[in-house]
Amino acid sequence: MADAAIAPQDLAAILRWYVEQGLDETIGEEPVDRFALPSPAAAPVAVTVAMTPPAATPARPAAPTPLRAAPPAPRPPVPLESPQLVEDARALAEGCTTLAELEAAVRSFEGCALKRTAKNTVFADGLPDAPVMVVGEAPGADEDRLGKPFVGVSGQLMDRMMEAIGLTRAGGFYITNILFWRPPGNRTPTLAEQGMCLAFTRRHIELIRPKVLVLAGGVAAKAVLDTAEGIMRLRGKWASYRLGDGTEIPTMPTFHPAYLLRTPASKRQSWMDLLAIEKKLKDLA
Ligand code: URA
Repeated sequence: MADAAIAPQDLAAILRWYVEQGLDETIGEEPVDRFALPSPAAAPVAVTVAMTPPAATPARPAAPTPLRAAPPAPRPPVPLESPQLVEDARALAEGCTTLAELEAAVRSFEGCALKRTAKNTVFADGLPDAPVMVVGEAPGADEDRLGKPFVGVSGQLMDRMMEAIGLTRAGGFYITNILFWRPPGNRTPTLAEQGMCLAFTRRHIELIRPKVLVLAGGVAAKAVLDTAEGIMRLRGKWASYRLGDGTEIPTMPTFHPAYLLRTPASKRQSWMDLLAIEKKLKDLA
């Protein structure tokens, strides 16, 4: 039986369905069955020596025996949910004494599954000595493409909100996320993925030592403050983030700009939060 051609409108419908299910990225031309990858013990030997028959009377010195590298062995599957990876991330982060070291450690960390599907590591934006540090949730598609946090529509709203109290990325605020890689299809990150990134984010806050910390949205607020309270209860009330040396950083949980875009009526409450941040900065000056 001949293959039935699929009508273009049906192909488009299939693609739309994929996107609705969160499959909005291609990460390779061919599918890879990761369950079928060989174990490291069965991996082929990396280098083989090509056999050349012995020459009876070599007219000139024999050419060096060519070495032929076998194709690289597929990377063995790593158990990406191991609690050990969270510990590894914590140890690595704690060993970083400068921001440059921390950024390099995040960029070279291979323990987080999110990195495998992301295009870029999204570390931070703004000047590190800014008085305010904003921590959001996770890079979206625009941030993943450009490698910078909060550059899409919610980032533009974030910039306008901060600018309303005189803060810009050119010196007023520094911005990052609790996750450094975009979850595919913006899915909810697993607890292990959050734990690994949070280890780096906690060190990030230690190294920046902002005057005021702003947590944008419920996911960031719950993770950083280590609380089960939702953003509706947390927002607008000063919390405190304690650094390793006991310093308390005034911390304001507030709505995420993506929520404000969906629920413009909540902008009034966000404006109150912004005014509270502005006043706190004046009081601390
Ligand atoms: N939302 C976030 O929480 N962070 C970004 O960087 C972009 C959108």
